[in-house]
Amino acid sequence: MSEITIIQGDITTLKVDAIVNAANSSLLGGGGVDGAIHRAAGAGLLKECRALHGCNTGDAKITGGYNLPARFVIHTVGPVWQGGKDKEAILLANCYHNSLQLAVDHHLQTIAFPAISTGIYGYPFDQASGIAIQTVTDFLKKPGTIREVIFVLFGKQDYETFKVIFTTFEK
Ligand code: APR
Repeated sequence: MSEITIIQGDITTLKVDAIVNAANSSLLGGGGVDGAIHRAAGAGLLKECRALHGCNTGDAKITGGYNLPARFVIHTVGPVWQGGKDKEAILLANCYHNSLQLAVDHHLQTIAFPAISTGIYGYPFDQASGIAIQTVTDFLKKPGTIREVIFVLFGKQDYETFKVIFTTFEK
């Protein structure tokens, strides 16, 4: 039975099989959680990312974790919010689904997600949270190696809001 955990914190500190990076399509680093992960992982991560030649929105690619406590980093590119009429919802769902599928393909058991697209990419937090919870919950209904999915919220307000959304979703 897989479990879903919700925590407030810095995803770069987690000792899990994989942390998910909310990257951009170049995979060459950036601000937000992308910048934090690259700073904590060190130069080896960028070197490996260069060899991946980018990533399309909604897709996911995996690298080593380098100086991070996590064994791997799964890089996914969320949609930029354009008002909701540009397939943002399906692309965001694809980020969660493809990241989980990559984890299963690599026989990983624990994976941590940030709130993809809700920062610089401007996705409304409540809508993005609902998509994240729905996609992960649906995925965990299928047999696979995933033992725990951790949603990591950076800010206190995001953490509280996400918990409320998760609780109402469960009912
Ligand atoms: N740990 C966990 N979550 C974090 C951390 C961290 N260390 N730092 C930021 N976050 C949270 C933000 O608070 C936000 O809720 O991650 C969420 C995603 O925000 P961004 O990092 O801005 O990512 P996103 O909105 O997907 O935009 C991606 O930003 O950093 C650039 O290169 C990246 O161009 C890409 C864009």
